[in-house]
Amino acid sequence: MSEPILQVRGLSRRFAGLMAVKDVSFALERGEVLGLIGPNGAGKTTLLSMISGTLAPSAGSIVFEGRDIAPLPAFRRAHLGIGRTFQIMRPFPGLTVLDNVAIGALFGRTNKKALAAAREAARECLRCVGLHGRIDHRADELGGPDRKRLELAKALAMSPRMLLLDEVMAGLNHVEIDEVIDVIHSLRAEGLSILVIEHVMKAVRSLSDRVMVLHHGERIAEGPSDAVLNDPAVIEAYLGKRKA
Ligand SMILES: Nc1ncnc2c1ncn2[C@@H]1O[C@H](COP(=O)(O)OP(=O)(O)OP(=O)(O)O)[C@@H](O)[C@H]1O
Ligand SMILES: [Mg+2]
Repeated sequence: MSEPILQVRGLSRRFAGLMAVKDVSFALERGEVLGLIGPNGAGKTTLLSMISGTLAPSAGSIVFEGRDIAPLPAFRRAHLGIGRTFQIMRPFPGLTVLDNVAIGALFGRTNKKALAAAREAARECLRCVGLHGRIDHRADELGGPDRKRLELAKALAMSPRMLLLDEVMAGLNHVEIDEVIDVIHSLRAEGLSILVIEHVMKAVRSLSDRVMVLHHGERIAEGPSDAVLNDPAVIEAYLGKRKA
């Protein structure tokens, strides 16, 4: 097998007295979709933020395409091809949908220098997520589901090689969830390597080649989706906590 696109070793993050992520190691293979699940507060977003570079690790190493990226700021990691969505979305509210996405194209891996080219790339991304009918709306006019689509389009506009998705289906109805699942399947088919944080189990099952489970910051399970999702320890840690 070829070298993984991402190799994380011993990654930890402490917030004051709390170990939000504790000595987590894993690899993301090229072209694979890895589901990342765990109860609220398990450390999923914290882990993703350390990989994308918006949060510094307390310890550990992050190797992307054979290169140690831990010292690099987030924008350099974006240039290398690491794209992400944010669980807490902050689009530029006064800009159009199109220009919110064009900004991603201006600053991403392929670095479209001219605004016209960036807007053309943005149109393509908005078509991909089904938001092309709203390109002239202001971002703050969008409802929740369309904001999720916008968030995904912004990440795609950076032309990532690896995509980190943080609950892009939260708050969507079943039809909308199926649409986003289809989008992610097509991205995978194009060769993207994808880490998906998701609470929507239907999506986790449908998308993931493997699943990793975090609980209190620790990796408690990792393996083929069916085996992990049927593991009694995972069901207790995850579903027990969620129900409560
Ligand atoms: N900036 C911060 N300062 C202090 N504590 C933080 C900070 N960010 C996260 N935490 C804490 O770290 C732990 C992990 O949070 P994180 O957001 O990574 O969880 P999560 O698995 O993404 O949860 P959710 O499913 O609710 O999104 C939580 O206890 C959270 O309160
Ligand atoms: Mg989170």
